Amino acid sequence: MAFLRLGDMLPVMLSLWPLATATPQATWPSAFEAWYASDAKHTTGHYATDSHVGASRIVLRDGTGDHLCSAFHNATACEQLTVAGFRYLYFPNAGDCCKCCTYTTGTYECGGPVGPQWVKNLTGNLRYVGRSEILGRSCHKWSIVGLDPEHLNYYFQDVQTGLPCGIDGYNYLRTPAEPADDQYLFEADSLNLTVPTSHFDVPERCQDARYCGGEVCATGPTAPETTLQI
Ligand SMILES: *[C@@H]1O[C@H](CO)[C@@H](O)[C@H](O)[C@H]1NC(C)=O
Ligand SMILES: *[C@@H]1O[C@H](CO)[C@@H](O)[C@H](O)[C@H]1NC(C)=O
Ligand SMILES: *[C@@H]1O[C@H](CO)[C@@H](O)[C@H](O)[C@H]1NC(C)=O
Repeated sequence: MAFLRLGDMLPVMLSLWPLATATPQATWPSAFEAWYASDAKHTTGHYATDSHVGASRIVLRDGTGDHLCSAFHNATACEQLTVAGFRYLYFPNAGDCCKCCTYTTGTYECGGPVGPQWVKNLTGNLRYVGRSEILGRSCHKWSIVGLDPEHLNYYFQDVQTGLPCGIDGYNYLRTPAEPADDQYLFEADSLNLTVPTSHFDVPERCQDARYCGGEVCATGPTAPETTLQI
């Protein structure tokens, strides 16, 4: 039989179909700030990041739903400031600050701030998984394989503007039975690509701060290895 039937061709045509339509590109602005809501952490707050400064600052109005914040001062405002090699946990109302980890050394290496490389598919870890509605907007959704291949992270991007809609990183409070994703859903009206670098100033209380230690943070850059939850 010299001719292919249409039925033979159809699966081929269908598999080529995505190539014929524009595949959305994931982009992460070099800097942005926004107010967010987090269902997963049961709070709201402010998110700011700047890859030129190499910093991010996540303000949680209430850190009870965050596994790092709640381990030290529960049920109070908490800021996670990642800059110049450290992730600080700053508690403005409790008047305390400690270093949770360094980027590259110690019992818990927290890595630097999330930046544009996160969505660049550098290790083939990005998958487009369709659209999702975030705070009333239609957003593209990608899954991103991180340190734990069994639990995916997600990035959402506004279909119309191409700006970030939100992020959702797998996480939990004390055990996997208590989900508490690093989920930040950005309010579109508040998103701003111009970020004052003063957002990333290390508060005085954090300068020369102790290591947080405990169950979830590093005890110091040179302490012996222990198993810690990321
Ligand atoms: C923090 O407070 C909440 C409610 O107020 C409580 O359910 C939770 O167990 C507390 N977490 C810690 C780590 O003490
Ligand atoms: C990411 O790279 C992998 C491996 O090359 C590829 O299969 C996948 O389609 C890419 N993802 C996106 C969203 O382009
Ligand atoms: C964005 O932030 C800059 C600097 O803080 C400010 O001057 C500007 O008004 C903001 N733009 C919007 C649309 O809010």
